[in-house]
Amino acid sequence: MITILRVADALLAQSPMETVQVRGWVRTKRDSKTFSFIEINDGSCFKNLQVIVDAAIPDSSKLSEISTGASVVVEGALVASKGGGQAWEVVAASLTLLGAADNSFPLQKKGHSPEFLRSIAHLRPRTNLFGSVFRVRSRLSYAVHNFFQERGFFYVHTPIITSSDCEGAGEMFRVTTLNQDNLPKDENGAVDYSQDFFAKPTYLTVSGQLEGETLACAMGSIYTFGPTFRAENSHTKRHASEFWMIEPEMAFCDLFGDMDMAETFVKYLVADILDNCPDEIEFFNKFIDKGLVERLQFVREKPFQRVSYTEAVDLLIKSGKSFEFPVAYGINLQSEHERYLSEECFKCPVTIYNYPKEIKPFYMRLNDDDKTVAAMDVIVPGIGEIVGGSQREERLQVLLDNMKRHDLGEEGYQWYIDLRKFGSVPHSGFGLGFERMLMFVTGVANIRDVIPFPRTPGSADF
Ligand code: 4AD
Ligand code: MG
Repeated sequence: MITILRVADALLAQSPMETVQVRGWVRTKRDSKTFSFIEINDGSCFKNLQVIVDAAIPDSSKLSEISTGASVVVEGALVASKGGGQAWEVVAASLTLLGAADNSFPLQKKGHSPEFLRSIAHLRPRTNLFGSVFRVRSRLSYAVHNFFQERGFFYVHTPIITSSDCEGAGEMFRVTTLNQDNLPKDENGAVDYSQDFFAKPTYLTVSGQLEGETLACAMGSIYTFGPTFRAENSHTKRHASEFWMIEPEMAFCDLFGDMDMAETFVKYLVADILDNCPDEIEFFNKFIDKGLVERLQFVREKPFQRVSYTEAVDLLIKSGKSFEFPVAYGINLQSEHERYLSEECFKCPVTIYNYPKEIKPFYMRLNDDDKTVAAMDVIVPGIGEIVGGSQREERLQVLLDNMKRHDLGEEGYQWYIDLRKFGSVPHSGFGLGFERMLMFVTGVANIRDVIPFPRTPGSADF
C-alpha cells in the first residue's frame, strides 16, 4: 500500500515509511555521479522535501529533463535524513516527470524585484515569499472565523452589488449593462438608468456595513467577511481598489465596547499567526522585516493606547514636527500623522476616537458635544489605519438631520431609516482591512504583495 503524503506531512512523520508517494515542483536539483538530490516543494508548508535519486533506478534517464520548476511524482521510502537540515528524506524507487519546465522558467534564481514578481503573479506563489504570504492569508481567514464564531457572532453575506454609498465618498465602481457607446437619455439629456439592468444606478459595494446593521438589529452580533471595492485614485502601498474587509456589527454595544472588541480582535489574530505559522514568521523576520517578531510579541502582550481625536491633534502640534499636511483641529489625519502617533509618540497601536462630525460619514452617532461623532480608528506602526469603526446613530431624528447635513436624500435609504423606527437599539461595529492586517503580521510593505491578484489604479492584469 502506497501512502500519498504532502511534504508538510512527510516532514512531520513519526517513523520511517516503506512506500510513500510525494508530488510537487522541483525547487533545485544537484547531481553527483551516482546520485541526484532534488528539493521538492508542494506548497503545503515552507520547507522542501529532499529526494535522493540513485542514477541506477529504472527511469533515471528522465533525470536529465528534470530541472527547476518541473512537476514530478516520486515514490520511494521515507527515511531519517543523514544530512543536517531536515529530519526526513525520500529515497526514490521511481521518479515520474509530469510536466517539464525549460530554462525559460522565470524563477530559476532568487532575488527578483517585487515589480517583476507582480508581472508573473501566476507563478509567484511558487516562491518562498508568496507561498508563505498566501499560507498566512489562509490561516488568517480561518482565525477571523474562529474569533467570531467562538464569541457567538453569525457570519452573514451582504451584497456585492448595491445602490447605496455607505461611506458617502462617491468612490464607487458602477455596475451597468447599458451600451456605453449609445447610452439611453431621458428628456433632460441625463442617462436614463431606468433602462439599466437593475432599473437604477448600481455599484460594487465599498462596505457591507449598512446591510450588516440590519442583521445585527435582528440577530445580535454578526460579521461579514468579503470583497469590497473602492474607486479611489490612491497610488500608495496600502490602498487597493479591491480588498477584503471584515465587518462585525454588534447590537446593544457602544463605542467603548466597539474599541475593546477591535483591540481584542487584532491581538487575537496576531497571536494566532505567531502560534500557527512559525516557519513563515521566521522567514519574514529574517528576510522581510527584522523587527517583525518583536513587534508582534509586543502587540500581543501590551494594551493599545487610546486617545481622543482632540488629544491626538494636540500631540501632533506639540511634536513640533513639520508635516507635509499641516495639523489643525478639523483635518483628516494623514498617514504621516498616524505614523508619528503610533511609531514615534506611543510606539504601539493607538485607538483614536471621537472625530469631528464634518469629516466622518452620515451614519456615525453624534456625541453630546454636538461637534464630534462616536468614531474610532485603530492605527498601527508601519501601516497607519487598520480599523475604522463607530457607534451608529440610532436616534431617528438625529439620523435624518445627519443625512441632510451630508446632502443625502432619504430615497433609497428608507430601509436603513426603518431600523430607527422599529425597535431601534444602540449598536456599533468596525471594519478591519484584511490586506492591511496581513501586511502587519507579515511585514510585507506593499499591499500588492499580500493579495494574489492585486487591483490598483491602472492595473487589473490576470
Ligand atoms: O475606514 P473604512 O472606510 O470604514 C468602513 O468602510 C466602515 N463602513 C467600516 C465599518 O464600520 N463597518 O474602511 C475600513 C478599513 C480601513 O481601516 C482599512 O483597514 C481598510 O478598511 N481599507 C482599505 N484597505 C485597502 N485598500 C483600501 N483602498 C482601503 N480602504 C479602506
Ligand atoms: Mg477609515
